[in-house]
Amino acid sequence: MKIYLETMGCQMNRLDSELVTGRLLAAGHEITDDRKSADVVLYNTCSVRAHAENKVYSRLGEEARRKGNLKHPPIVGVLGCMVQRQGPALRKRYPCVDIACGPRQLSDLPEMILNAAAGKTTVARDPDRKTARDAFENDPNFDVLDQGRDPCIGPNARAYVRVMRGCDKFCTYCIVPFVRGPEISRKPSAIVEEVRRLVAAGRCEITLLGQTVNSYCHRAGEQTVSFSDLLGRVSDIEGLRRLRFVTSHPIDFGNDILEAMRDLPNICPYVHCPAQSGSDRILKAMGRNYTREQYDDLIDRARAIVPDVVLAGDFIVGFPGESEQDHAASADLIRRSGYKNSFIFKYSPRPGTAGARHLVDDIPAAVKKYRNNELLAVQAEAGLAHHRKLIGRTMEVLVEGPSRRAGKQPKAPANPGHLQLVGRTRGDHIAVFDGPRDLAGQYANIHITGASALTLFGQLR
Ligand code: 5AD
Ligand code: SF4
Repeated sequence: MKIYLETMGCQMNRLDSELVTGRLLAAGHEITDDRKSADVVLYNTCSVRAHAENKVYSRLGEEARRKGNLKHPPIVGVLGCMVQRQGPALRKRYPCVDIACGPRQLSDLPEMILNAAAGKTTVARDPDRKTARDAFENDPNFDVLDQGRDPCIGPNARAYVRVMRGCDKFCTYCIVPFVRGPEISRKPSAIVEEVRRLVAAGRCEITLLGQTVNSYCHRAGEQTVSFSDLLGRVSDIEGLRRLRFVTSHPIDFGNDILEAMRDLPNICPYVHCPAQSGSDRILKAMGRNYTREQYDDLIDRARAIVPDVVLAGDFIVGFPGESEQDHAASADLIRRSGYKNSFIFKYSPRPGTAGARHLVDDIPAAVKKYRNNELLAVQAEAGLAHHRKLIGRTMEVLVEGPSRRAGKQPKAPANPGHLQLVGRTRGDHIAVFDGPRDLAGQYANIHITGASALTLFGQLR
């Protein structure tokens, strides 16, 4: 069958979609970019903000109409976090859904598709948090989807590797602990083996993934493997050129991790460590378990220990009770940290979280919007200053391919065989330069000649 798979949300979802794609191809299906001609339409969904869910509702509305009009309507499947949050209610609201599959059930998707083709619908939610730890911790099949992965599927030289599932932090605004379940770390040997296979297949830039990746901790009998231990084991793999990890939680960022970043040459000097707010009062209400002073200290330690460290953050504006003073503290934190970039979100109450139960969403939409724009402007200034400091340097990039503007530039590349390419530095900067198309997937050295808030511009060396 021809299958269309659309992915919303975070890197974890992108990885899940890549792993699912491998399973579907292995089961003899075909993947298509054309939703209209597909026999099966799948949405891998996100629940982190209402906006992400609304996008899926609008897609499902379209599918419901198509089902009414077409002679051979496609099988419709909803995957991931929204299924976990809503379960059977989702099918009730959208009877056009044939498959509802929670995040940890994805390995059974090929079977669910066969059942749907035979007229049998599936609603498969993960076990709830209370029983999930027991159900998964000792289950060798816990990471079958990862272990059974085809290492050749995915975008050129880069690959994500999951080191843990779930989250135990329960920040008061966040739905993740409810939809992704308890935090369970994978066995280090399984992670190392997966990276080995990926590197052997030419995927030499690996990003370790976890909702709080640096909280990784694997215990077996007497032996405990911490995140810095894991970094050591993975970085040892022959042929692994670059190793990154996202996303980190400030409270678990010890100097052992920073020292590993300093000492192991293939670990990239990039730290994405969301602050969420610069104000102690709001951090407390968010349940983040650190103070502004502790976060500032982490930034200082990172700068002192890791040469040329590049920082990135996340912020939420308009959290319940956020005053102008609290907001100013977030702006101040962006200036002080000098992030390369920050992801800035308007607070969105998520049903079932402590925030939604106990706090009133009292910041008007217009104020959220203005605070969002203000932080974006402060971040743009910080980002420009950060990128400008790199002008004059020569930096290694992994070339991703033609830029979105390739062929549309006001000035055509000087060399007729060249086009505008985009690549990533070790610090995760986006660099744009002219070069031959076949550089995609390879490493190149770029002399940096210009900068904007989000991009470096340069010339191939
Ligand atoms: N509202 C707005 N932003 C949120 N995030 C998580 N939950 C919410 C919410 N309810 C943001 C956080 C997190 C990022 C992935 O999404 O900044 O780091
Ligand atoms: Fe959500 Fe907090 Fe866990 Fe991050 S650490 S996934 S924000 S609960």
